[in-house]
Amino acid sequence: MGKYDFDKVIDRHGSGALKVDALDEFFGRGDLQGLWVADMDFAVSPRIQEALVTRMSHPIYGYGAVQHSYWQSIIDWLWHRHGWAVSREEMTYIPGVVKGIAYAVNFFTRPEDKIVIQPPVYHPFKMVIEGNGRSVINNPLIYHDGVYEMDLAGLEQIFATERPAMMILCNPHNPIGIQWDEDTLRQVASLAYRYGVKVVSDEIHGDLVLYGKPHYPFASVSDEAAAVAITLGAPSKTFNIAGLVSSWVIVKNPALREPFFSWLAANEFDSPTFIATIATEAAYRHGEDWLDECLRYIEGSIEETEEIVATTLPGMKFIRPQASFLAWLDCRGLGLDHDELQDLFINRAHLALNDGAMFGAEGAGFMRLNLGSPRSVIRSAMEALAKSISTLQISK
Ligand SMILES: Cc1ncc(COP(=O)(O)O)c(C=O)c1O
Repeated sequence: MGKYDFDKVIDRHGSGALKVDALDEFFGRGDLQGLWVADMDFAVSPRIQEALVTRMSHPIYGYGAVQHSYWQSIIDWLWHRHGWAVSREEMTYIPGVVKGIAYAVNFFTRPEDKIVIQPPVYHPFKMVIEGNGRSVINNPLIYHDGVYEMDLAGLEQIFATERPAMMILCNPHNPIGIQWDEDTLRQVASLAYRYGVKVVSDEIHGDLVLYGKPHYPFASVSDEAAAVAITLGAPSKTFNIAGLVSSWVIVKNPALREPFFSWLAANEFDSPTFIATIATEAAYRHGEDWLDECLRYIEGSIEETEEIVATTLPGMKFIRPQASFLAWLDCRGLGLDHDELQDLFINRAHLALNDGAMFGAEGAGFMRLNLGSPRSVIRSAMEALAKSISTLQISK
């Protein structure tokens, strides 16, 4: 064991955790193992908890002053971890990445404008676009033999004919966990620049790259990328502090940044709570050893689960993520329709995973498995699934 105990099973029931305390609401029954919503079942770095407890032990919770050291901790992190140089003026706070996307959609596009997404992709992209009266243009990822790639020809065709105002890029891409390579990102940037498309790059999973793969912040890959990018990121997935709501937006191009940041400020969308700044600074300054150990643990869990799927789950294929703790399971070999697949996971195996279809029609027949749990939990979930698949085959 390393310095931190990722094998420790921590009961989250009764803590108000979405993953376990909202199962009835989302899955129709509460007796499920929660392997869905994207947070991890690991205790945070003790340095984050200590910083919060220290502050909370002071009995006055009035307005907080945002310290210079908070901004500097983000700047230092992005440089140290990803070699991305950003300045204080290029960044501001946002209360969540999805809200940041919504602000960008509202500020930079008009009702009925078209916005490109690349399904199967994180479902709130579509919800934000359509909920704000804009329309979605899909440029689905190409999938063959267990490998996904971006359809760059499709993207160019869409930019040329549909004239979208914006594209929402998921970098790394949730679900599937694709870390886009530099060349693909450069091509996206060059097309977007040529056709005048703004690119909102959601990089919330960017710190969670695996197996030594680098994360390329979209805005860093070329001058064209820097000119069109609105980048959103956070310590929330990285350090398992999503409930504290701390995120940032970085815009390099002053022509986009200045009016957007003024609008965010005028509406006070850029005002953090003191809890957010304290946790963020503690995470970025003191959480790196925890993160590195956590990533090695996740890599081990991925390898083990891949092996379990290959040897004990007939009809299922494990698609290995390059980033983050979310694995994509191709279940189409089971020969089940949508409802039968959901029934297998929920009512037979008693497991709550994300239904692949929620990420777009291209996700039908897939399930998203959250591996951010102790290995014993994942093993028992896979055993339950193997048993349920075998009874399914007998009853067929
Ligand atoms: C790609 C992506 N963006 C955004 C979010 C949510 O971010 P936030 O809670 O900051 O809105 C998630 C959470 O799963 C995600 O996977």
